[in-house]
Amino acid sequence: MDPKGATAIVTGGNSGLGEATARSLLAAGANVYSLDIGGEAPEGATHIVCDVSDPASVKAAVAQVEGPVHILVNSAGIGGMGQIATAEGPGDVAAIRKVVEVNLLGAINVTAEVAHRMIGNDPVGEDGERGVVVNACSIASFEGQEGMTAYTAAKAGLAGLTLVWTRDLGKHGIRCMGIAPGFMATPMVAFLPEAFVAELLKDAEFPKRAGTATEFAKIVMTILENPLLNGDVIRLDAGTRPPARTEWSVG
Ligand SMILES: NC(=O)c1ccc[n+]([C@@H]2O[C@H](COP(=O)([O-])OP(=O)(O)OC[C@H]3O[C@@H](n4cnc5c(N)ncnc54)[C@H](O)[C@@H]3O)[C@@H](O)[C@H]2O)c1
Repeated sequence: MDPKGATAIVTGGNSGLGEATARSLLAAGANVYSLDIGGEAPEGATHIVCDVSDPASVKAAVAQVEGPVHILVNSAGIGGMGQIATAEGPGDVAAIRKVVEVNLLGAINVTAEVAHRMIGNDPVGEDGERGVVVNACSIASFEGQEGMTAYTAAKAGLAGLTLVWTRDLGKHGIRCMGIAPGFMATPMVAFLPEAFVAELLKDAEFPKRAGTATEFAKIVMTILENPLLNGDVIRLDAGTRPPARTEWSVG
């Protein structure tokens, strides 16, 4: 999918991985819409205020995007930690539900609306492609650590849906891929104590450093460019396999 002249929707495009992706898409000549609950879109992109966890908000936001939509990047997300249960009581299921509503149902809400629009696109290129969907998954999709019920429920779900959406949408010339980053230096994780970050990064094989949002955006651009990338989740984690827990896992 050539981004030049294409229309892209990036959820969470006002910060971190989504923002870097929006910037790369703009630089490649795409029309970019950031569906984000807050913040400011990068210059050249259009911000549409949207809560991805609210189907009505998503419907209204997608309706504001003019013309065919060719690219969707589901990057909106929030963090959240908490044990499923402790000796003191059951886990905070309301907090778990909130993370799942944003990180998993949010991507489902947006993909349902946008993929429907994509199906109506004119096919382009040799393969007759109509659209590409990219999901921001996580290494917690595969190796959730202690205390990650909410985040892993959402990100494992999203990784699993990447293949299901490929199977639902392939017949319409729409591809779907996931990217599973390890620790990336973005505003989402900026509040974490330095010692915690150091502990997370020691599990990277090489290089032992946080990933950058630009490195994420580069994978998105590769996915767009290469039509054989479909139905899979690419790890972007410097070989990290997270251990069961860190010193900081919630007790
Ligand atoms: N940073 C990391 O280490 C890391 C690692 C793996 C996966 N991820 C995932 O990548 C994605 C982007 O994370 P990031 O680090 O760039 O975070 P970020 O906090 O920098 O950006 C997230 C964006 O999503 C928006 N957002 C939050 N809730 C929303 C909602 N309900 N509706 C619409 N927009 C909403 C925020 O306003 C923000 O602009 C997330 O899905 C995150 O889970 C991040």
